[in-house]
Amino acid sequence: MRTLIKGGTVLSSTGSSVADVLVDGETIAAVAAPGVFADDAADQVLDATGKYVLPGGIDAHTHMEMPFGGSFSNDTFATGTTAAAWGGTTTIIDFAVQAKGTSLLSTLDKWHEKADGNCAIDYGFHMIVSDVNDTSLKEMDACLDGGISSFKMFMAYPGVFYSTDGEILRAMQKARGNGSTIMMHAENGIAIDQLAAQAVAAGRTDPVEHSLTRPPELEGEATSRAITLAKVTGSPLYIVHLSAAQALAAVAEARDAGQNVFAETCPQYLYLSIEDMAKPNFEGAKYVASPPLREKSHQADLWRGLRTNDLSVVSTDHCPFCFKDQKELGRGDFRAIPNGIPGVEHRMDLLHQGVVAGEISLERWVETCSTTPARMFGLYPRKGVIAAGADADVVIYDPKAKQTLSAETHHMNVDYSAYEGWEIAGKVDTVLSRGSVVVSPSGFSGSTTHGKFLPRGLNQYLG
Ligand code: URP
Ligand code: ZN
Ligand code: ZN
Repeated sequence: MRTLIKGGTVLSSTGSSVADVLVDGETIAAVAAPGVFADDAADQVLDATGKYVLPGGIDAHTHMEMPFGGSFSNDTFATGTTAAAWGGTTTIIDFAVQAKGTSLLSTLDKWHEKADGNCAIDYGFHMIVSDVNDTSLKEMDACLDGGISSFKMFMAYPGVFYSTDGEILRAMQKARGNGSTIMMHAENGIAIDQLAAQAVAAGRTDPVEHSLTRPPELEGEATSRAITLAKVTGSPLYIVHLSAAQALAAVAEARDAGQNVFAETCPQYLYLSIEDMAKPNFEGAKYVASPPLREKSHQADLWRGLRTNDLSVVSTDHCPFCFKDQKELGRGDFRAIPNGIPGVEHRMDLLHQGVVAGEISLERWVETCSTTPARMFGLYPRKGVIAAGADADVVIYDPKAKQTLSAETHHMNVDYSAYEGWEIAGKVDTVLSRGSVVVSPSGFSGSTTHGKFLPRGLNQYLG
Protein backbone atom coordinates (compact mmCIF):
# COMPACT_ATOMS: atom_id res chain seq x y z
CA MET A 1 0.00 0.00 0.00
CA ARG A 2 1.45 3.36 -1.06
CA THR A 3 0.11 6.65 0.27
CA LEU A 4 0.98 10.10 -1.05
CA ILE A 5 0.56 13.00 1.37
CA LYS A 6 0.46 16.03 -0.89
CA GLY A 7 0.94 19.74 -0.51
CA GLY A 8 1.37 20.04 3.23
CA THR A 9 3.97 21.98 5.19
CA VAL A 10 6.31 19.30 6.45
CA LEU A 11 7.64 20.15 9.90
CA SER A 12 10.81 19.02 11.58
CA SER A 13 12.82 20.10 14.60
CA THR A 14 15.00 22.22 12.33
CA GLY A 15 12.59 23.83 9.89
CA SER A 16 9.63 23.47 7.59
CA SER A 17 8.90 23.39 3.88
CA VAL A 18 6.04 22.55 1.56
CA ALA A 19 6.70 19.00 0.37
CA ASP A 20 5.09 15.71 -0.59
CA VAL A 21 5.60 12.59 1.48
CA LEU A 22 5.46 9.15 -0.10
CA VAL A 23 4.69 6.26 2.22
CA ASP A 24 5.35 2.72 1.11
CA GLY A 25 4.02 0.03 3.41
CA GLU A 26 4.99 0.85 7.00
CA THR A 27 7.75 3.34 6.25
CA ILE A 28 8.38 6.67 4.60
CA ALA A 29 9.83 6.09 1.14
CA ALA A 30 10.69 9.67 0.21
CA VAL A 31 10.10 13.34 0.93
CA ALA A 32 10.23 15.45 -2.22
CA ALA A 33 9.37 18.82 -3.70
CA PRO A 34 5.66 19.22 -4.51
CA GLY A 35 4.71 17.52 -7.75
CA VAL A 36 7.71 15.18 -8.00
CA PHE A 37 5.41 12.19 -7.44
CA ALA A 38 2.45 11.71 -9.74
CA ASP A 39 -0.83 10.83 -8.03
CA ASP A 40 -0.78 7.43 -9.67
CA ALA A 41 2.47 6.61 -7.84
CA ALA A 42 0.26 5.81 -4.86
CA ASP A 43 -2.83 3.78 -3.98
CA GLN A 44 -4.28 6.68 -2.00
CA VAL A 45 -3.62 10.40 -1.98
CA LEU A 46 -4.16 12.56 1.11
CA ASP A 47 -4.42 16.27 0.40
CA ALA A 48 -2.62 18.20 3.16
CA THR A 49 -2.77 21.61 1.50
CA GLY A 50 -2.84 24.36 4.14
CA LYS A 51 -2.03 21.85 6.88
CA TYR A 52 1.05 20.77 8.80
CA VAL A 53 2.58 17.36 8.25
CA LEU A 54 4.60 16.35 11.28
CA PRO A 55 6.13 13.24 12.82
CA GLY A 56 3.71 11.45 15.14
CA GLY A 57 3.86 12.58 18.73
CA ILE A 58 5.82 10.54 21.26
CA ASP A 59 4.47 10.66 24.78
CA ALA A 60 7.33 9.37 26.91
CA HIS A 61 5.39 9.33 30.18
CA THR A 62 2.06 7.54 30.51
CA HIS A 63 0.40 5.27 33.06
CA MET A 64 -2.18 2.90 31.61
CA GLU A 65 -3.82 0.48 34.07
CA MET A 66 -1.41 1.67 36.75
CA PRO A 67 -1.94 0.37 40.27
CA PHE A 68 -2.04 3.27 42.74
CA GLY A 69 -3.41 3.46 46.28
CA GLY A 70 -5.73 0.46 45.91
CA SER A 71 -7.08 1.62 42.55
CA PHE A 72 -5.99 1.44 38.91
CA SER A 73 -5.69 4.30 36.46
CA ASN A 74 -8.79 3.99 34.33
CA ASP A 75 -7.39 3.78 30.79
CA THR A 76 -6.46 0.33 29.58
CA PHE A 77 -3.71 0.08 26.98
CA ALA A 78 -6.48 -0.24 24.41
CA THR A 79 -8.48 2.83 25.42
CA GLY A 80 -5.46 4.97 26.28
CA THR A 81 -3.57 4.31 23.07
CA THR A 82 -6.72 4.90 21.02
CA ALA A 83 -7.18 8.27 22.75
CA ALA A 84 -3.51 9.03 22.09
CA ALA A 85 -3.98 8.34 18.38
CA TRP A 86 -6.96 10.69 18.25
CA GLY A 87 -4.66 13.43 19.53
CA GLY A 88 -1.78 12.80 17.14
CA THR A 89 0.40 10.70 19.43
CA THR A 90 1.67 7.57 17.69
CA THR A 91 4.05 6.22 20.35
CA ILE A 92 3.77 5.99 24.10
CA ILE A 93 6.36 4.89 26.63
CA ASP A 94 4.50 3.57 29.65
CA PHE A 95 5.83 2.64 33.06
CA ALA A 96 6.04 -0.96 34.24
CA VAL A 97 5.78 -0.80 38.04
CA GLN A 98 7.88 -3.08 40.21
CA ALA A 99 5.96 -3.78 43.42
CA LYS A 100 8.15 -4.21 46.49
CA GLY A 101 9.18 -7.84 46.92
CA THR A 102 8.82 -8.66 43.23
CA SER A 103 11.41 -8.84 40.47
CA LEU A 104 11.94 -6.50 37.55
CA LEU A 105 11.68 -9.30 35.01
CA SER A 106 8.39 -10.64 36.33
CA THR A 107 7.13 -7.04 36.30
CA LEU A 108 8.18 -6.68 32.69
CA ASP A 109 6.35 -9.92 31.80
CA LYS A 110 3.24 -8.62 33.54
CA TRP A 111 3.30 -5.36 31.56
CA HIS A 112 3.80 -7.23 28.31
CA GLU A 113 0.75 -9.32 29.18
CA LYS A 114 -1.30 -6.16 29.66
CA ALA A 115 -0.10 -4.32 26.58
CA ASP A 116 0.86 -6.83 23.90
CA GLY A 117 -1.90 -7.16 21.35
CA ASN A 118 -3.88 -4.40 23.06
CA CYS A 119 -2.46 -1.16 21.68
CA ALA A 120 -3.61 1.04 18.82
CA ILE A 121 -0.16 2.62 18.43
CA ASP A 122 3.43 1.54 19.07
CA TYR A 123 4.64 1.45 22.65
CA GLY A 124 7.65 0.88 24.86
CA PHE A 125 8.20 0.62 28.59
CA HIS A 126 10.31 2.28 31.23
CA MET A 127 10.79 0.31 34.43
CA ILE A 128 9.92 1.72 37.86
CA VAL A 129 12.45 0.36 40.35
CA SER A 130 10.98 0.45 43.84
CA ASP A 131 12.93 -2.39 45.43
CA VAL A 132 16.67 -1.93 45.09
CA ASN A 133 18.60 -5.08 45.96
CA ASP A 134 21.33 -7.24 44.42
CA THR A 135 18.82 -9.13 42.27
CA SER A 136 16.98 -6.12 40.91
CA LEU A 137 20.25 -4.33 40.19
CA LYS A 138 21.40 -7.32 38.18
CA GLU A 139 18.04 -7.44 36.42
CA MET A 140 18.58 -3.91 35.14
CA ASP A 141 21.04 -5.46 32.66
CA ALA A 142 18.46 -8.04 31.59
CA CYS A 143 15.89 -5.27 31.16
CA LEU A 144 18.27 -3.55 28.75
CA ASP A 145 18.39 -6.76 26.72
CA GLY A 146 14.58 -6.64 26.69
CA GLY A 147 14.56 -3.14 25.23
CA ILE A 148 14.04 -1.23 28.48
CA SER A 149 16.78 1.38 28.73
CA SER A 150 15.39 3.76 31.35
CA PHE A 151 14.56 3.25 35.02
CA LYS A 152 12.39 5.51 37.13
CA MET A 153 13.01 5.99 40.83
CA PHE A 154 11.09 7.92 43.46
CA MET A 155 12.28 10.32 46.15
CA ALA A 156 8.59 10.62 47.11
CA TYR A 157 5.93 8.17 48.39
CA PRO A 158 7.77 6.67 51.43
CA GLY A 159 6.72 3.07 52.00
CA VAL A 160 5.48 2.63 48.44
CA PHE A 161 7.85 3.58 45.63
CA TYR A 162 10.39 5.56 47.68
CA SER A 163 14.09 4.79 47.48
CA THR A 164 16.69 6.05 49.93
CA ASP A 165 19.64 8.09 48.69
CA GLY A 166 21.81 4.99 49.15
CA GLU A 167 19.50 2.90 46.99
CA ILE A 168 19.40 5.62 44.35
CA LEU A 169 23.18 5.80 44.42
CA ARG A 170 23.44 2.05 43.80
CA ALA A 171 20.99 2.13 40.90
CA MET A 172 22.83 5.10 39.42
CA GLN A 173 26.12 3.23 39.64
CA LYS A 174 24.48 0.41 37.69
CA ALA A 175 23.13 2.87 35.11
CA ARG A 176 26.56 4.43 34.76
CA GLY A 177 27.92 0.93 34.06
CA ASN A 178 25.33 -0.26 31.54
CA GLY A 179 24.54 3.02 29.77
CA SER A 180 20.91 3.29 30.83
CA THR A 181 19.22 6.46 32.08
CA ILE A 182 17.81 7.02 35.56
CA MET A 183 14.53 8.94 35.58
CA MET A 184 13.70 10.67 38.84
CA HIS A 185 10.50 11.66 40.58
CA ALA A 186 12.18 14.42 42.55
CA GLU A 187 10.19 15.50 45.58
CA ASN A 188 11.32 15.19 49.20
CA GLY A 189 8.70 12.65 50.25
CA ILE A 190 9.91 12.31 53.84
CA ALA A 191 9.37 16.00 54.56
CA ILE A 192 6.15 16.10 52.52
CA ASP A 193 4.59 13.26 54.51
CA GLN A 194 5.20 15.20 57.73
CA LEU A 195 3.61 18.36 56.33
CA ALA A 196 0.64 16.38 55.03
CA ALA A 197 0.10 14.62 58.38
CA GLN A 198 0.25 17.98 60.17
CA ALA A 199 -2.32 19.47 57.77
CA VAL A 200 -4.78 16.61 58.32
CA ALA A 201 -4.25 16.73 62.10
CA ALA A 202 -5.14 20.44 61.96
CA GLY A 203 -8.34 19.68 60.03
CA ARG A 204 -7.04 20.90 56.66
CA THR A 205 -8.22 18.06 54.43
CA ASP A 206 -9.27 19.69 51.12
CA PRO A 207 -7.57 18.89 47.78
CA VAL A 208 -5.68 22.21 47.72
CA GLU A 209 -3.70 20.99 50.74
CA HIS A 210 -2.06 18.48 48.44
CA SER A 211 -0.24 21.39 46.83
CA LEU A 212 0.31 23.40 50.02
CA THR A 213 2.03 20.45 51.70
CA ARG A 214 4.29 19.77 48.71
CA PRO A 215 6.01 23.17 48.43
CA PRO A 216 8.15 23.87 45.35
CA GLU A 217 11.25 24.15 47.54
CA LEU A 218 10.94 20.43 48.30
CA GLU A 219 10.94 19.67 44.58
CA GLY A 220 13.95 21.97 44.12
CA GLU A 221 15.80 20.33 47.00
CA ALA A 222 15.15 16.79 45.75
CA THR A 223 16.11 17.76 42.20
CA SER A 224 19.43 19.19 43.43
CA ARG A 225 20.05 16.06 45.51
CA ALA A 226 19.34 13.77 42.56
CA ILE A 227 21.68 15.85 40.42
CA THR A 228 24.40 15.57 43.05
CA LEU A 229 23.99 11.78 43.25
CA ALA A 230 24.14 11.60 39.46
CA LYS A 231 27.30 13.67 39.46
CA VAL A 232 28.99 11.49 42.07
CA THR A 233 28.11 8.31 40.15
CA GLY A 234 28.46 9.66 36.61
CA SER A 235 24.95 8.51 35.75
CA PRO A 236 22.76 10.31 33.23
CA LEU A 237 19.66 11.73 34.89
CA TYR A 238 16.25 12.61 33.48
CA ILE A 239 13.93 14.55 35.80
CA VAL A 240 10.31 13.62 35.13
CA HIS A 241 7.28 15.94 35.39
CA LEU A 242 9.23 19.01 36.47
CA SER A 243 6.80 21.62 37.81
CA ALA A 244 8.70 24.19 39.86
CA ALA A 245 11.02 27.10 39.07
CA GLN A 246 13.36 25.92 41.85
CA ALA A 247 13.78 22.52 40.19
CA LEU A 248 14.31 24.10 36.79
CA ALA A 249 17.05 26.33 38.19
CA ALA A 250 18.86 23.25 39.52
CA VAL A 251 18.58 21.50 36.15
CA ALA A 252 19.79 24.57 34.26
CA GLU A 253 22.81 24.95 36.56
CA ALA A 254 23.79 21.30 36.08
CA ARG A 255 23.38 21.51 32.32
CA ASP A 256 25.42 24.70 32.19
CA ALA A 257 28.15 22.82 34.01
CA GLY A 258 28.07 20.12 31.35
CA GLN A 259 26.36 17.35 33.33
CA ASN A 260 24.12 14.85 31.51
CA VAL A 261 20.93 16.08 33.15
CA PHE A 262 17.68 16.32 31.20
CA ALA A 263 14.13 17.22 32.16
CA GLU A 264 10.57 17.08 30.96
CA THR A 265 7.54 19.10 31.91
CA CYS A 266 3.86 18.43 31.24
CA PRO A 267 0.98 20.52 29.84
CA GLN A 268 -0.74 20.70 33.23
CA TYR A 269 2.20 22.61 34.69
CA LEU A 270 2.25 24.99 31.74
CA TYR A 271 -1.46 25.78 31.84
CA LEU A 272 -3.08 24.83 35.16
CA SER A 273 -2.33 26.10 38.66
CA ILE A 274 -3.02 25.76 42.37
CA GLU A 275 -6.13 27.86 41.72
CA ASP A 276 -7.66 24.84 39.99
CA MET A 277 -6.95 22.73 43.05
CA ALA A 278 -8.83 25.22 45.22
CA LYS A 279 -12.08 24.79 43.25
CA PRO A 280 -15.08 24.19 45.56
CA ASN A 281 -17.16 21.02 46.02
CA PHE A 282 -14.11 18.75 45.91
CA GLU A 283 -13.59 19.69 42.22
CA GLY A 284 -9.96 20.41 43.09
CA ALA A 285 -9.44 16.63 43.36
CA LYS A 286 -9.52 16.45 39.57
CA TYR A 287 -6.18 18.26 39.56
CA VAL A 288 -4.38 16.27 42.26
CA ALA A 289 -1.11 14.89 40.90
CA SER A 290 2.46 14.84 42.14
CA PRO A 291 4.31 17.12 41.89
CA PRO A 292 1.27 19.33 42.42
CA LEU A 293 0.06 22.24 40.34
CA ARG A 294 1.93 25.38 41.36
CA GLU A 295 1.29 29.11 41.58
CA LYS A 296 0.86 30.58 38.11
CA SER A 297 4.16 32.42 38.46
CA HIS A 298 6.06 29.19 37.71
CA GLN A 299 4.57 28.93 34.22
CA ALA A 300 6.68 31.66 32.59
CA ASP A 301 9.82 29.91 33.84
CA LEU A 302 8.68 26.60 32.38
CA TRP A 303 7.98 28.14 28.97
CA ARG A 304 11.40 29.75 29.07
CA GLY A 305 12.93 26.40 29.98
CA LEU A 306 11.27 24.87 26.92
CA ARG A 307 12.79 27.59 24.73
CA THR A 308 16.28 27.24 26.20
CA ASN A 309 16.18 23.41 26.15
CA ASP A 310 16.66 23.13 29.91
CA LEU A 311 13.31 21.41 29.51
CA SER A 312 13.75 19.23 26.47
CA VAL A 313 10.63 17.04 26.45
CA VAL A 314 6.92 17.54 27.00
CA SER A 315 5.15 14.40 28.22
CA THR A 316 1.72 14.08 29.78
CA ASP A 317 2.17 11.88 32.87
CA HIS A 318 -1.26 10.67 31.74
CA CYS A 319 -2.73 8.92 34.80
CA PRO A 320 -6.53 9.06 34.66
CA PHE A 321 -8.69 8.45 37.72
CA CYS A 322 -12.42 9.08 37.49
CA PHE A 323 -13.80 11.93 39.58
CA LYS A 324 -16.74 9.78 40.62
CA ASP A 325 -15.63 6.64 42.46
CA GLN A 326 -11.83 7.11 42.28
CA LYS A 327 -10.91 10.70 43.21
CA GLU A 328 -13.82 10.37 45.66
CA LEU A 329 -11.66 8.07 47.82
CA GLY A 330 -9.94 11.17 49.19
CA ARG A 331 -12.98 13.16 50.30
CA GLY A 332 -12.14 14.09 53.87
CA ASP A 333 -8.42 13.35 53.51
CA PHE A 334 -6.57 14.69 50.49
CA ARG A 335 -3.80 12.10 51.03
CA ALA A 336 -6.14 9.37 49.78
CA ILE A 337 -6.97 11.08 46.47
CA PRO A 338 -5.40 8.96 43.70
CA ASN A 339 -2.62 11.02 42.14
CA GLY A 340 -2.86 11.74 38.45
CA ILE A 341 -4.35 13.87 35.68
CA PRO A 342 -5.57 12.62 32.29
CA GLY A 343 -3.95 14.17 29.24
CA VAL A 344 -2.61 11.73 26.63
CA GLU A 345 -5.12 12.90 24.03
CA HIS A 346 -4.41 16.61 24.16
CA ARG A 347 -0.65 17.11 24.50
CA MET A 348 -0.10 17.99 20.84
CA ASP A 349 -3.07 20.39 20.85
CA LEU A 350 -2.09 22.07 24.10
CA LEU A 351 1.50 22.60 23.01
CA HIS A 352 0.24 23.93 19.69
CA GLN A 353 -1.40 26.67 21.77
CA GLY A 354 2.13 27.54 22.88
CA VAL A 355 3.01 28.06 19.23
CA VAL A 356 -0.10 30.18 18.67
CA ALA A 357 0.74 32.28 21.73
CA GLY A 358 4.35 32.76 20.58
CA GLU A 359 5.85 30.88 23.52
CA ILE A 360 7.60 28.29 21.32
CA SER A 361 8.26 27.90 17.60
CA LEU A 362 6.71 25.29 15.34
CA GLU A 363 10.10 23.56 15.26
CA ARG A 364 10.27 23.46 19.04
CA TRP A 365 6.74 22.01 19.15
CA VAL A 366 7.88 19.10 17.00
CA GLU A 367 11.18 18.79 18.82
CA THR A 368 9.81 18.66 22.38
CA CYS A 369 6.81 16.48 21.53
CA SER A 370 8.39 14.03 19.08
CA THR A 371 12.02 14.32 17.97
CA THR A 372 13.70 14.75 21.34
CA PRO A 373 11.70 12.03 23.11
CA ALA A 374 12.71 9.71 20.24
CA ARG A 375 16.38 10.54 20.76
CA MET A 376 16.21 10.59 24.54
CA PHE A 377 14.71 7.13 24.69
CA GLY A 378 16.55 5.37 21.90
CA LEU A 379 13.94 5.38 19.14
CA TYR A 380 15.47 7.77 16.60
CA PRO A 381 15.45 7.78 13.55
CA ARG A 382 12.81 5.07 13.42
CA LYS A 383 10.53 7.52 15.22
CA GLY A 384 10.49 11.29 15.67
CA VAL A 385 11.19 12.43 12.13
CA ILE A 386 9.68 12.51 8.66
CA ALA A 387 12.49 11.15 6.52
CA ALA A 388 13.06 8.26 4.16
CA GLY A 389 13.39 5.03 6.12
CA ALA A 390 11.53 6.22 9.22
CA ASP A 391 8.33 4.55 10.34
CA ALA A 392 5.41 6.27 8.64
CA ASP A 393 3.97 7.72 11.85
CA VAL A 394 2.62 10.94 10.42
CA VAL A 395 0.15 13.55 11.63
CA ILE A 396 -1.69 15.91 9.33
CA TYR A 397 -2.63 18.82 11.57
CA ASP A 398 -5.03 21.61 10.65
CA PRO A 399 -3.87 24.79 12.38
CA LYS A 400 -6.99 26.69 11.31
CA ALA A 401 -9.53 24.27 12.76
CA LYS A 402 -11.10 25.01 16.13
CA GLN A 403 -12.15 22.58 18.82
CA THR A 404 -13.49 22.62 22.36
CA LEU A 405 -11.98 20.18 24.84
CA SER A 406 -14.54 18.29 26.89
CA ALA A 407 -15.17 14.99 28.65
CA GLU A 408 -18.26 14.74 26.44
CA THR A 409 -16.12 14.39 23.33
CA HIS A 410 -12.73 13.09 24.40
CA HIS A 411 -11.76 9.44 24.01
CA MET A 412 -9.86 8.90 27.25
CA ASN A 413 -11.69 6.54 29.60
CA VAL A 414 -12.23 9.09 32.34
CA ASP A 415 -15.28 11.10 33.37
CA TYR A 416 -13.76 14.58 33.37
CA SER A 417 -11.42 16.81 31.42
CA ALA A 418 -8.86 18.94 33.21
CA TYR A 419 -9.39 21.42 30.35
CA GLU A 420 -13.22 21.30 30.20
CA GLY A 421 -14.58 23.93 27.80
CA TRP A 422 -11.19 25.18 26.61
CA GLU A 423 -11.30 26.52 23.05
CA ILE A 424 -8.29 25.30 21.12
CA ALA A 425 -6.86 26.57 17.85
CA GLY A 426 -5.82 23.62 15.70
CA LYS A 427 -6.92 20.02 15.45
CA VAL A 428 -5.63 16.70 14.24
CA ASP A 429 -6.97 15.91 10.77
CA THR A 430 -5.38 12.54 9.92
CA VAL A 431 -2.99 10.19 11.70
CA LEU A 432 -0.94 7.40 10.19
CA SER A 433 0.67 4.76 12.36
CA ARG A 434 3.29 2.72 10.50
CA GLY A 435 1.63 3.61 7.22
CA SER A 436 -1.96 2.83 8.23
CA VAL A 437 -4.50 5.62 8.53
CA VAL A 438 -5.77 5.24 12.08
CA VAL A 439 -7.57 8.58 12.44
CA SER A 440 -9.17 10.65 9.68
CA PRO A 441 -11.94 13.23 9.46
CA SER A 442 -14.34 10.26 9.34
CA GLY A 443 -13.14 8.95 12.68
CA PHE A 444 -10.98 6.21 14.16
CA SER A 445 -10.14 3.48 11.67
CA GLY A 446 -7.32 1.80 13.56
CA SER A 447 -7.32 -1.36 15.60
CA THR A 448 -6.18 -2.06 19.14
CA THR A 449 -4.06 -4.94 17.90
CA HIS A 450 -2.04 -2.77 15.50
CA GLY A 451 0.50 -1.34 17.99
CA LYS A 452 3.86 -3.06 18.30
CA PHE A 453 6.26 -3.21 21.23
CA LEU A 454 9.34 -1.06 20.63
CA PRO A 455 12.57 -2.39 22.10
CA ARG A 456 14.55 0.77 22.74
CA GLY A 457 18.24 1.60 22.52
CA LEU A 458 20.20 3.91 24.78
CA ASN A 459 19.76 7.64 25.28
CA GLN A 460 21.17 9.21 22.11
CA TYR A 461 22.24 12.43 23.83
CA LEU A 462 25.05 10.69 25.69
CA GLY A 463 28.55 10.89 24.35
O1 URP B 1 0.54 12.09 40.21
C1 URP B 1 1.16 11.42 39.41
N1 URP B 1 2.15 11.97 38.78
N2 URP B 1 0.80 10.13 39.19
C2 URP B 1 1.49 9.21 38.41
C3 URP B 1 2.69 8.62 39.10
C4 URP B 1 3.91 9.48 38.95
O2 URP B 1 4.50 9.85 39.96
O3 URP B 1 4.31 9.77 37.84
ZN1 ZN C 1 6.36 10.52 39.26
ZN1 ZN D 1 4.08 9.54 36.06
